[in-house]
Formats: sequence, C-alpha cells, structure tokens
Amino acid sequence: MQRTNDAVTVKIIDTGMGIARAHLPLVFDRFWRADVNRANESGGLGLGLAIAQSIARSHRGEIKVDSQLHLGSCFHVKLPLA
Ligand SMILES: Nc1ncnc2c1ncn2[C@@H]1O[C@H](COP(=O)(O)OP(=O)(O)OP(=O)(O)O)[C@@H](O)[C@H]1O
Ligand SMILES: [Mg+2]
Repeated sequence: MQRTNDAVTVKIIDTGMGIARAHLPLVFDRFWRADVNRANESGGLGLGLAIAQSIARSHRGEIKVDSQLHLGSCFHVKLPLA
C-alpha cells in the first residue's frame, strides 16, 4: 500500500498468464475477454474489471494495470482520501 497526502494506492499482483500489451487498454471494457474459446470454459462474462473500475471511479478513484505476457499482472487501485 502506498499513501500520499490525498490518496491511497493498493497494488494487487499476480504471477499468472499476463496480458498482452495490445490488450491492456481493453481489459476494463464491458464483456471484453482475451480468449473467447477459453472464456467459455472458465465461464466469466468479462464484467469483473468493468464493475471494479466503475466502483473506483464512483469514489473519484482509478484502477490501472501493468502486465507482462506469461509473467503476471499488477493492478493499481487508487482511491482519494476523504
Ligand atoms: N489478472 C489477470 N491476468 C491475466 N488476464 C487478466 C487478468 N484479469 C483480467 N484479465 C483479462 O481481462 C479479461 C476481463 O477481465 P474481467 O475480470 O473483466 O472478466 P472475466 O474475469 O473474464 O469475467 P468476470 O469477471 O465477469 O467473471 C479476462 O477475461 C482476461 O482475459
Ligand atoms: Mg474477472
């Protein structure tokens, strides 16, 4: 967790499959999923990150993501302090 005068940022890091650079701007889009075939097996809708971003923005915050394909991802959840 990182704290400045006006905001707190929490990082959520995984060592999973990672996200291709070209896909990074898309992951927060509603119903977007990287691999449609695998999507059917794992059963998600592609809504989780869109909902999380919407909640963060409703608090005047923001979620950003860094990732390297095959290595993992880091989500930064920044929320303003009251
Ligand atoms: N930590 C991650 N590592 C790799 N890819 C990810 C990660 N998080 C999200 N993605 C990619 O972004 C897509 C959208 O993620 P999101 O959480 O919005 O939907 P979902 O997990 O597919 O379905 P839902 O959250 O609705 O169950 C995922 O399908 C996947 O392709
Ligand atoms: Mg999800």
